[in-house]
Amino acid sequence: MNKKLIVFFSYTNNTKTIAQKIKEKLNCDMIEIKTVKPYSNDYQTVVEDEQNSESSTHLPEIEKININLNQYHTIILGTPVWWYRPVPAVRTFLTENDLSGKTIIPFATNGGWIGRTFEEIKKLCPNSNIINEINIVFENNQLKTKETKIEQWIDSITKQ
Ligand SMILES: Cc1cc2nc3c(=O)[nH]c(=O)nc-3n(C[C@H](O)[C@H](O)[C@H](O)COP(=O)(O)O)c2cc1C
Repeated sequence: MNKKLIVFFSYTNNTKTIAQKIKEKLNCDMIEIKTVKPYSNDYQTVVEDEQNSESSTHLPEIEKININLNQYHTIILGTPVWWYRPVPAVRTFLTENDLSGKTIIPFATNGGWIGRTFEEIKKLCPNSNIINEINIVFENNQLKTKETKIEQWIDSITKQ
């Protein structure tokens, strides 16, 4: 059976909203990546603190994933874009877990500057089959990408 798992990180809940939408439709398992050291509640502080992450190789420690990834064939991977890249906690997840041979369907939420997010996911998972990625834009936390586009994308995932 082609078992699917949603894995995501979210700071201001945009990515979480999309992850929950996917879960409602697919009725599959879902896990949220969390950093051991929480980020500041002050948005601007996080934006400024993370600015150096544009070129950084720093991987923040994340909470242990209490799920056996071996049982899943497909990982639906959600990340906000931070400084044109996948969020550092997602980079930690991809570095610590071998997703070779699995299909990865990435979705990235962002304010319109996706940068090299999908390229970097591909680089971190050279032996995975990365398909059907979608860029979902929020402006001031309001969804800008058409709902119908997202619904169609979710429908297409159910077949994978
Ligand atoms: C530290 C930080 C860096 C960001 N960098 C970018 C960026 O490079 N490009 C972009 O379009 N949006 C950027 N954003 C906006 C987020 O990608 C966007 O609001 C995203 O939907 C947030 O997802 P979340 O609510 O799940 O945390 C940044 C936000 C933060 C907090």
